[in-house]
Amino acid sequence: MPHKFSNGIYTRSAEETISLGMKFSGTLTKKDVVVLEGALGGGKTTFIKGVVKGLNIKAKVLSPSFTLVRQYGKAEFCLYHIDLYRLKEDEIFNIGIEDFLYAKDAVTMIEWGEKIEDCIPSYIKIVFSLLDNNVRKIDFSLKGYKNRKIKL
Ligand SMILES: Nc1ncnc2c1ncn2[C@@H]1O[C@H](COP(=O)(O)OP(=O)(O)OP(=O)(O)O)[C@@H](O)[C@H]1O
Ligand SMILES: [Mg+2]
Repeated sequence: MPHKFSNGIYTRSAEETISLGMKFSGTLTKKDVVVLEGALGGGKTTFIKGVVKGLNIKAKVLSPSFTLVRQYGKAEFCLYHIDLYRLKEDEIFNIGIEDFLYAKDAVTMIEWGEKIEDCIPSYIKIVFSLLDNNVRKIDFSLKGYKNRKIKL
C-alpha cells in the first residue's frame, strides 16, 4: 500500500510550487527516484526547478521532452530529469532508462513516470492536479519502502 505523507498541498502560483520543490529537496538522498504524474501544465517541471534550486545545483531547468534526459550538476552529485511524455511503454527501456534509476551519485526525477512505475521497486510519487488557472494540488506518497518516512 502506498504510504501517503501529505494530504495534498495546494499551491497558488508557480513560485509557490518552486518553494515547495525547494523544501522537498531537503528530504532527498542519492539514489532516490521520484515519479511525477499529472496533466500537461500541471507543474511537474516547475516543481523540479525548485528541487534543483534547493539542491544548490546551478542549472537551467528545461522541459526534456525532446532530449528525454537532462543532467543537472556534476558527476559527484547530479539530478537526472527525465520526461517520458512522448514515449510508449515499450520504447522506454530502449533508451536505457535503467542507467538512470538508482544511479550511485544521483537523484532521478521522471515526468510521466507512471508509465514505468510498475518496474521501479521503490520511489517517491508526486501527483499534480490542475484545479484552477493557478491552483495546483500536489500529493506525495512513498511506494515500495519498508521504513522510510518523509515529512514536509
Ligand atoms: N500553482 C502553480 N504551480 C505550478 N505551475 C503553475 C502554477 N500556477 C500556474 N502555473 C503555470 O503552469 C505551468 C506549469 O508548467 P510546467 O511545465 O511546470 O508543467 P508540467 O507538468 O511539467 O507539464 P508537461 O506535462 O507539459 O511537461 C507554467 O506555465 C506555470 O507558470
Ligand atoms: Mg514538464
